[in-house]
Amino acid sequence: MGKNLFLTKSLTDLLQEANDNKSGLKKTLTGLNLTTLGIGAIIGAGIFVLTGQAAAQYAGPAIVLSFIISGIACAFAGLCYAEFASMIPISGSAYTYSYATLGEFLAWIIGWDLILEYLFAASTVSVGWSGYVVSFLKDFGIFIPTAFTAATGSVLVEVPKLGWQQLTENLSAGLLAQGISVDSLPHVTAIINLPAMFIIAALTLLLIIGIRESANFNNIMVIVKVAVIIMFIAIGIAFVQAGNWHPFIPENTGEWGHFGWSGVLRGAGVIFFAYIGFDAVSTAAQESKNPQRDMPIGILGSLSISTVLYILVAIVLTGIVSYTTLNVSDPVAVGVDAMGKSMFWLRPIVKIAAIAGLSSVILVMLMGQPRIFYSMSKDGLLPPIFSRVHPKYKTPYVSTILTGCVAIVLAGVLPISILGELVSIGTLLAFAIVCVSIIVLRKTRPDIERPFRTPWVPLIPILGALICFIQMAALPGDTWLRLIVWMAIGFVIYFTYGIHHSKQQKLNNTPK
Ligand code: ALA
Repeated sequence: MGKNLFLTKSLTDLLQEANDNKSGLKKTLTGLNLTTLGIGAIIGAGIFVLTGQAAAQYAGPAIVLSFIISGIACAFAGLCYAEFASMIPISGSAYTYSYATLGEFLAWIIGWDLILEYLFAASTVSVGWSGYVVSFLKDFGIFIPTAFTAATGSVLVEVPKLGWQQLTENLSAGLLAQGISVDSLPHVTAIINLPAMFIIAALTLLLIIGIRESANFNNIMVIVKVAVIIMFIAIGIAFVQAGNWHPFIPENTGEWGHFGWSGVLRGAGVIFFAYIGFDAVSTAAQESKNPQRDMPIGILGSLSISTVLYILVAIVLTGIVSYTTLNVSDPVAVGVDAMGKSMFWLRPIVKIAAIAGLSSVILVMLMGQPRIFYSMSKDGLLPPIFSRVHPKYKTPYVSTILTGCVAIVLAGVLPISILGELVSIGTLLAFAIVCVSIIVLRKTRPDIERPFRTPWVPLIPILGALICFIQMAALPGDTWLRLIVWMAIGFVIYFTYGIHHSKQQKLNNTPK
């Protein structure tokens, strides 16, 4: 009996599955819940950590333009996601969409690729969470031993005024320029990142207990982070000194990507991380009360709100202080410091907002991954245990536990830079394929009801896919190599397990 790598899953079957209340998952989420889930997943390390670094190193005050460019690219992908999520409201997200359009093998590739986005993003952001928590506790006189606060084997040095920092080439060069030799500073080699592991374990437990409980926790975190960001913008405007915005696009240093227009583009590539997460809304489709109407609201609503907040934060932050001072891990706190002593009360509040923000990103990413495993397992591409739903809590608990365990190990031992770039390349690939799939499905199944339609097809999907490929091309060779190795592992699993257990393959081979 032959196997067909390009078997597609029939849309009629998919729609039946979506309407089938026997999935075991609880349908409780509203449009508002989905929007807060999206904001929960989007606003995090990108704005609280990366903005300042990207402004200081690449774009200057024009980081605002980087946010606009990256935001437009994500809006194209977001519009395509919205069409799919309203049309095929199944929890597998881009995996399911490509199963319906491009065939099983490509769907498997996407499903496998999405692990890079969700599971790895949870670990990446937990490392940022650990940094903020360690610094917050220190302000209250509670010290976590430095060796237990960073990736295994990474070297930390105690820098005067800044405290413990991860040793990088940039840091040693910077210190040397000030006449300080790294060797003269206290060193520690890290054993493991315990706070990062702790937060993943805690949120995994919450996710097992229930989607409603997790959504409630997420709502509180989102309210805290959004309220503090709005407060920062509203108070910060009064402290803006227009001189800080000049020159708006600092002159290029002679090297591509360091200021000038090329710096704005590189800034957009770095800032892309800040937008990742709106697509996580689509993984909760089967737990949504009215997905046809609410999926587009959740995806596009969360993306628009976050974009506006990002642009305003970038404008205010680069107006309060010179962009040259923002190359730190807590740029928003630097902005608050610059407001003067009378504003010091805002410091711990900003840290709390960052901790809340990062917690919700980790939560939604850890929620998305098991739901993709769930769909892949329902289709037979992963063992049935991955779709086991807890009899009492109605959550896919086995895949949630598995996701949590792997994320805990990654968070404890891998450095943030390796994790972060893998997340970006994996996500860009998924976005590009979703864009292409929209065009394919409009051609192959124009008849299907589309409660939300992406405007200007094929222009928007083509531009969306193109921008994603350009951003992928700009990522370092090492990241590409890791992507290829990851995909190779995926191929092996598909050809040794998936293809032989796939329900579609079995259906295809059943005599009609
Ligand atoms: N967009 C998410 C963040 O910035 C991944 O943390």
